[in-house]
Amino acid sequence: MTLKDKKIVLGVSAGIAAYKAAELLRLMVREGADVFVAMSANAGQFVTPLTFQALSGHPVYSEVFGSAASASMEHIRAAEGADLLVVAPATANCVAKLANGHADDALSTLFLAFAGPAIVAPAMNDKMYANPAVQENIAKLKSRGVRIVEPETGELACGVVGMGRLADPLRIVEEVKKRLARAADLAGLRLLVTAGPTREPIDPVRYITNPSSGKMGYAIAGQARDRGAMVTLISGPTYLPKPDGIEFLPCQKASEMLDLTLARLPECDALVMTAAVGDFAPESVRKEKIKKSGEPLVLKLSPTPDILLEASKIKTRQYMVGFAAESQNLVQSALEKLRKKRLDLIVANDISAPGIGFQSDYNQVTIIAGESDIERLPLLPKTEVAGVILDRIKAGVRKG
Ligand SMILES: Cc1cc2nc3c(=O)[nH]c(=O)nc-3n(C[C@H](O)[C@H](O)[C@H](O)COP(=O)(O)O)c2cc1C
Repeated sequence: MTLKDKKIVLGVSAGIAAYKAAELLRLMVREGADVFVAMSANAGQFVTPLTFQALSGHPVYSEVFGSAASASMEHIRAAEGADLLVVAPATANCVAKLANGHADDALSTLFLAFAGPAIVAPAMNDKMYANPAVQENIAKLKSRGVRIVEPETGELACGVVGMGRLADPLRIVEEVKKRLARAADLAGLRLLVTAGPTREPIDPVRYITNPSSGKMGYAIAGQARDRGAMVTLISGPTYLPKPDGIEFLPCQKASEMLDLTLARLPECDALVMTAAVGDFAPESVRKEKIKKSGEPLVLKLSPTPDILLEASKIKTRQYMVGFAAESQNLVQSALEKLRKKRLDLIVANDISAPGIGFQSDYNQVTIIAGESDIERLPLLPKTEVAGVILDRIKAGVRKG
């Protein structure tokens, strides 16, 4: 693909590699992109806004206050119209601000106002890059779906050899193209995702639930939206913000999730059931709060509906993905579930392994489509696991 007619924001921060941003800008303009430059507070110490203005043909957004651009809220306009935002070079300070939601200069303010795909190319001294604070900030950005173009190893401006040199502008352009190609590769796909825990009431103030955070399902929904799919997210109660640009259907009980899922399934091309649906619910819900009497309380629990099984009974062409959280015999249990529920794919994770699964931003999963199709992924941010699952759906879906 070329960058013809693509609107790209190039963010430049105050690193010694800022001069390479001019080369990156020229490469993108030569490919037909319309590039708008935003600069961090100190980037002008290295390259003047005039250089970027001359090369891009647009005024540069470098001051939040005091410029003509600031009065017209230029950062919001630029963010709204752009197909992609690429920050190169990203200094340690810039990475920290982007990861932690600061908005105290033109670039960080624009980054916060931008909802589309973003690429960040860090460049700094090797010790700075290896610092756990920088690595934590980079991990945070990755977990939100930001693509990090890792710096290269070589001679650094400070005179040492190490990892920290800005990736070659040609490599950054390739990443920009890849990200833009991906931005539309699920166009036309109608995807139904369930996420989060379910909540089964015992009385007006108590309920049975589980520690599912919903992060895996929200990551799949968000990534699918960014890749052009029409997404419906059926979510149990979570603390996550409602994602923009998708249809959002909240629910509480497993039976409500079942009704919503079965109602929406016929019009969808694929279903991804990440929700941790509770297996049991109190047989009856007390109307009044149960009083503490000092005696043990005995609750009778009945099984909740099996949403995947019910969905598999009415499925026609839909590509169905289930999740299996297992603490033993991971692959065997997942294969059984795959067959029994007529799934196309099952994503199994070992919930006995520390630091992954339920509440974490990371997951380590095995993707299984049959006995001879078992793919064990390394520990990855949930956004990247989401990308792999969506690639499999794209390859396997039968459009109606
Ligand atoms: C000559 C010089 C070169 C610098 N190069 C880098 C660099 O490559 N990467 C980096 O993270 N910081 C670098 N710094 C430090 C940043 O400029 C400094 O942290 C600044 O506050 C970053 O501002 P920003 O948020 O506008 O990027 C350099 C500083 C100087 C004086």
